[in-house]
Formats: sequence, C-alpha cells, structure tokens
Amino acid sequence: MGRREVLERLLPQLQLCPADYQVGALDPRSLFEVEIRAIWLEVGFGAGEHLAAMAQAFPDIGFIGCEPFINGVARLLTVIDQSALDNVRIVMDDAGLLLDSLTAGSIDRAFLLFPDPWPKRRHNKRRFIGPKNVAAMARVLADGAHWRVATDHMDYCRWILAHLAAARQFQWLARRPGDWRLRPDDWPATRYEEKGIEAGRPPVFLSFRRQDRQHPDIQP
Ligand SMILES: C[S@@+](CC[C@H](N)C(=O)[O-])C[C@H]1O[C@@H](n2cnc3c(N)ncnc32)[C@H](O)[C@@H]1O
Repeated sequence: MGRREVLERLLPQLQLCPADYQVGALDPRSLFEVEIRAIWLEVGFGAGEHLAAMAQAFPDIGFIGCEPFINGVARLLTVIDQSALDNVRIVMDDAGLLLDSLTAGSIDRAFLLFPDPWPKRRHNKRRFIGPKNVAAMARVLADGAHWRVATDHMDYCRWILAHLAAARQFQWLARRPGDWRLRPDDWPATRYEEKGIEAGRPPVFLSFRRQDRQHPDIQP
C-alpha cells in the first residue's frame, strides 16, 4: 500500500487529537479496544523503528507515539498495517499538547530518542527537555515509571542530566559507565542512532525512574 493510501485509510482510525479532550482528562487506557496492561509513550518517533519493534514485542502494552513529521507517520502506519498491530495510537502534533491532556500518572514508560539537539545557544530553548516538559512528564508518569532518553550530542546530554536532576522527581538509574554507554538489549535501535555512530558521535542511553510521589524529598 502506498504512503497516501495508508495515511488516508489508517490515520483516521489511529490518530488521537489531544484537543478533543479537556486538560488532564484523557485516560489513555480508554483508547484501546484490546486489553492492555500498561501504556508506553514515545515522543518524536521519527520513522518509527523503535515504536514498531516495541509494539510488536509487547502486544499487551498500549503505545502512544507523537510525531509531527508526516513521512515518519506514514512509515510507521505502513508497519502497523503490515503487522496488523492493534496496540498503537498516533498523535501527529507537538507532544506537549498530549502531555497536557493526559491524566496524572497514566504513563508507565516513556521514550525520547535522539531529540533535536538545537546546538546553537540561542536555540537551546527549543529543546524538548526544559522545565515545562520535564514537569509535564513528571505529572503524567506513574510512580516508578522509567523514562528512556538517548542522544548523540554531549552538550544536550549534560543539559538533560542537569534538568532532570534539578526537577528532583527523577532518579538517573546508571551505576557504572556501561549502563549509559551501551544500548540495553531490549532497546531497539533507530535511524538517528545509526547516523550518530556513522558520524563519529557515540550515543548515550539514559534511563530515569519517576520517583514515588510520597517520597519526602521531592515535589508532587
Ligand atoms: C532527530 S529526530 C529523531 C527521530 C527518532 N526518535 C530516531 O531516533 O530516529 C527528532 C524527531 O522528533 C520530532 N519532534 C520534535 N519536536 C517534537 C515535539 N515537540 N513533539 C513530538 N515530536 C517532536 C521531530 O519531528 C523528529 O522526527
């Protein structure tokens, strides 16, 4: 099936529009007809390699993917169609809109893989990781949920670690260098990881845990 056909036929069935929901009112479990045990979210899935591999490996998880890039959405839809996946929903828009619409604590795992680094200092404020989105992620993630973040840009890596440490709701799970230098076996590779390696920029793989809300040292 061609790109246009898959977009016309499948996207209306699988697309989720956050604007249809009041702020904080979208329970993502209500989006799936099949029974699911958890909800995982990928922000900026690009061509969708990671999301498709995860959705195939975990048919009992409901996946929400956010990606405004229409070619990437079409690529993911093609795999969804070929593999008859019924556990994926797509937001073709800024992930911030989705985060605002979700109920608190409704996401059990999140992925942000090779977000645009916006390397020029004057563009740093466009980075996905910043106080607003970190607070929004802390609100929607369940206690104990893991948030996986990858980058091949070392300035952005330092920025990510600083922002998540400052927010205090997140604990970086690395104990030794191999924990962040090597991609875990259950973490499928993406196109941007390959691009980074080819360009001599070895990626880092950061895993954070959303701290329990009743923890005395953290904000709610
Ligand atoms: C550098 S690409 C990485 C794509 C993919 N994750 C990978 O590893 O191959 C970053 C992607 O994030 C998407 N993106 C940027 N800002 C976004 C936002 N606010 N919400 C959702 N996606 C976003 C872009 O459209 C782009 O496809």
